[in-house]
Amino acid sequence: MKITRRHFLGLSGALGLASCARVKQVTPDVNLGRLRPGFGSRDFTFAAINDTHVLDTRSAAIVNHAVRSINADERVQFTVILGDIATDGRYQELNLAKVAFDQLDKPYFAVPGNHDVYMPAKDIFGNYRLAFGAPHWTENTRGWLFIGLNSCEEDKSDVLVQPAELEWLGKVLGRANRERPIALLAHHPFNPNTKAYRVKNADEILAMFSEHNLKLVAAGHYHGNQVEEHEGVLFTTTACCSTTRDNHDNTPEKGYRLFHVTGETLETEFVVVQS
Ligand SMILES: [Fe+2]
Ligand SMILES: [Fe+2]
Repeated sequence: MKITRRHFLGLSGALGLASCARVKQVTPDVNLGRLRPGFGSRDFTFAAINDTHVLDTRSAAIVNHAVRSINADERVQFTVILGDIATDGRYQELNLAKVAFDQLDKPYFAVPGNHDVYMPAKDIFGNYRLAFGAPHWTENTRGWLFIGLNSCEEDKSDVLVQPAELEWLGKVLGRANRERPIALLAHHPFNPNTKAYRVKNADEILAMFSEHNLKLVAAGHYHGNQVEEHEGVLFTTTACCSTTRDNHDNTPEKGYRLFHVTGETLETEFVVVQS
């Protein structure tokens, strides 16, 4: 987890929408309409960005564009970064991305992806921790519980979320208010109908929420926009925000996702970032 606050005041005003087009994309908005009254009564928006795959200074440019776009959107209260921040988990790559994300005016929270682990090291998350802090975390804010889950199994694409992580999640849920809306954030997809890469033990993990008020599971890794609602839970994956990688669904648009929480309604939209 990493939080930053207003490092570069005024940057969004100077560089915002003029340098990076912001377009409401074709991804349909989803209206869940099932949130309990009393929770989430304060409207808010947060951004989710994933798969930046930063390799060098040049490839950090699109991240800078995304950061300026997010800063220019006064509705956004915080940003979640859903993994594959780097290319090969090297500290230099992760730190280049961190320098870019540190320009966010509002707080940000990150989880690692399979490209953020450094397999030659004894502690494969060591470089990630140095740059972004703990690979899992919780945040209580605005009546919601946000859970950042480390979904990685080494550097694999098709993963089993590891037993130690499930144990941690069980403890989190054991302490959680069962009425409180929950957003689960991870790198690997949980979407029941994702075209690829569904977490192998996704159903086991989702069952852990059976007595809780899970409303959202947002992920990356697939490099494509997928939005579906299943049994009252919104599942998403989002296009990559990278110039070193393409989307797996062959769509050309790169960008990030917004989630709008308005009273009892959760809506999402994709925002294009020009590279
Ligand atoms: Fe990726
Ligand atoms: Fe990935």
